[in-house]
Amino acid sequence: MPIHYHENTRTFHLFNASVSYIFTILENGTPGSLYYGARLTDKDDYSELLEMKRRANAPCTYEGNLLFSLEHLKQEYPLYGHGDLRYPACSMRRENGSHIFEFRYISHVIYSGKHGINGLPAIWCSTTDEMESLEVELEDANSGTRLTLYYTICSDLPVIARHTRITQAGASAVTIERVMSCNVDLIDDAWEMVQLNGAWSRERHVTTMPLRPGIQSVYSMRGHSSAQFNPFLALKRKECTETQGECMGFTLLYSGSFLAGVEVDNYHVSRVQIGIHPDCFEWTLQQGESFETPEAVYVYSEDGLNGMSQAFHTLFNRHLVRGKYRMKERPILINNWEATYFDFDEEKIVRIAETAAQAGIELFVLDDGWFGNRNDDHRGLGDWYVNLQKLPHGISGLSQRIHSLGMQFGLWIEPEMVNRDSNLYRTHPEWVMVDPDYVPCHGRNQYVLDFSRKEVVDYIFKCLDQVLDGADVNYIKWDMNRTMSEVYSRSHSSLQQGRVMHEYILGVYDLYERLIQKYPDILFESCASGGGRFDAGMLYYAPQAWTSDNSDAVERLKIQYGTSYVYPPSCMGAHVSAVPNHQVFRNTPFNTRANTAFYGAFGYELDLSKLTEDELEQVRQQVTFMKKYRSVFQYGTFYRLSSPFESNETVWMSVSQDQKTAIVGYYRVLNEVNVGYRRIRLKGLNPDEQYRISMDGRWIEGRELMKAGLVTSDYTSGENGEIYNGSNGDFISRLYVLEA
Ligand code: DGJ
Repeated sequence: MPIHYHENTRTFHLFNASVSYIFTILENGTPGSLYYGARLTDKDDYSELLEMKRRANAPCTYEGNLLFSLEHLKQEYPLYGHGDLRYPACSMRRENGSHIFEFRYISHVIYSGKHGINGLPAIWCSTTDEMESLEVELEDANSGTRLTLYYTICSDLPVIARHTRITQAGASAVTIERVMSCNVDLIDDAWEMVQLNGAWSRERHVTTMPLRPGIQSVYSMRGHSSAQFNPFLALKRKECTETQGECMGFTLLYSGSFLAGVEVDNYHVSRVQIGIHPDCFEWTLQQGESFETPEAVYVYSEDGLNGMSQAFHTLFNRHLVRGKYRMKERPILINNWEATYFDFDEEKIVRIAETAAQAGIELFVLDDGWFGNRNDDHRGLGDWYVNLQKLPHGISGLSQRIHSLGMQFGLWIEPEMVNRDSNLYRTHPEWVMVDPDYVPCHGRNQYVLDFSRKEVVDYIFKCLDQVLDGADVNYIKWDMNRTMSEVYSRSHSSLQQGRVMHEYILGVYDLYERLIQKYPDILFESCASGGGRFDAGMLYYAPQAWTSDNSDAVERLKIQYGTSYVYPPSCMGAHVSAVPNHQVFRNTPFNTRANTAFYGAFGYELDLSKLTEDELEQVRQQVTFMKKYRSVFQYGTFYRLSSPFESNETVWMSVSQDQKTAIVGYYRVLNEVNVGYRRIRLKGLNPDEQYRISMDGRWIEGRELMKAGLVTSDYTSGENGEIYNGSNGDFISRLYVLEA
């Protein structure tokens, strides 16, 4: 049993082979945190970890007792009042205006397996022995408010999931102003914080900095998880590297505005919190109502950041993604966006698809521009009926033609948005999320539909259902191309405005869920101007996400490297695009573009009918290669070996679950001349196995490849007479396939 309750000390110990999470019910009845980290031996009493010390000026709970102060005790889920003066996990207001609550332990229950969360994404298990769960029930006697703390630990992964529910059982209302999904008070502050940040087209770049006293946080107040900061942070020891040392990662299964941060107090305690962003959030509970937070997931690793990432990858592949595509190889696709933008008709599309089919590509995706009057990005959004001038046989006619080529058919949608120049806007201007007293911002000429209103979600579902019904659509790319800047719902009262941002996301999840239930065979890919809503919440609905609008192979090294901190290659949409690249105008070799994109949900995004015969032959070979090794790329154990943020050379590798096949991706940005010998020490191989290296046919033992390394020395001599041959200049790459 991975969850033990020690009755005489009222201590909970969640543990498995690698991790322990311990907390206790303090003498005042509130839960106090004891420890989170590497597995400890289970025992009755951990009170030595409480560290009660007499400190001047501390607010103390009991008269005559100068030791028991919540300012200094580590808390499990702190609120205002009673002495804890750090940021609370939760802040609520009673009708009398007081923010003081005291939640005391009432009961708990431990059970095998895990429950879902109504209307929200959550990790799940297929058999109850994979996870064990704990619910701790607390009550504030004055207000009658209940607080439930939910915990789940995985049996064979270093993973703990947490979330919180507040229920108003008392007669008067309470208003929630801040409700984090979790709080963990760590026993020291000797950590560095790793975060993923960026902007459009440079998503999830890695930044690391030492923790300092005070608050350090990442956040989004944009209504979506955002390209600016990902809902994730990791804490690592200074000496922790990619492959060794202690670290822990925290993420939120949520796609809306979030806050994730660490507060280091003046006694070296680090308080980690992650949850819905409290600004502009307010939720009043009347008697009988409750509010449930999104789920937070913690991963612990003593095998460096790679160990952390691998645990996230396994968790998400096995226990987050649902449906037909869970643990399934993803179809190789061709998308027409960068090939045509809005300028296409049925014949042009079919021409691209025909070439793609001949090359063995499995899925054609029709991107933006197929509906309403959508000939540019100023108009048409919201009008979900086919543009018959472009596609005279409708979506089902085009879908049939694509299927007759032996390919699956996919469609782009952007259901949450509307252009002013659209029939939807003309009919329902009040459905747009704006404050009518002000001129609202547009983003890419579009406005946000108020998905906090059920009738809006109902209407969009009906429109999409009409498009999909009978059209044999196998894949949907669900885009979302602007942030929210004026969050105000005309259907909500003044007291309900604080709910709107969260209800919007619940509306998005609701629409996804309805479409998934009705069309369970469709593969969804989420997208938000590239990777602007790439989060674990989305993966519960859409098993893959478009990683970035930046399809340049060199830029993608950083983006995919950073993304892999949390998200598995199986879910990273990655396409080979044309050169000069449309975002950075760089010319990279064809094979480098493919060698980068192979480590993801692979596809093409260019006009294949414009390629030379030689390039088309390369496409055919790439597709054949990907089909052969797709399971290793997408579901192998992924190791980052050399970072594009620190080096001219990026190296990563994937190892099949049986360790029989490994593929090392080596990428060098700029060429240099006469450099020293280079080797890269591989990871994850079977030390006793002999591996054949595809590059030169040699057989080398796994032990040698991991200890002495794989030779990656460059061949450029720089001498007169040597000529450029495509594999000795800038932006080159090599794939080393290792087979046992
Ligand atoms: C933004 C997406 O990221 C692109 O891939 C493309 O689908 C465009 N939107 C279409 O408008």
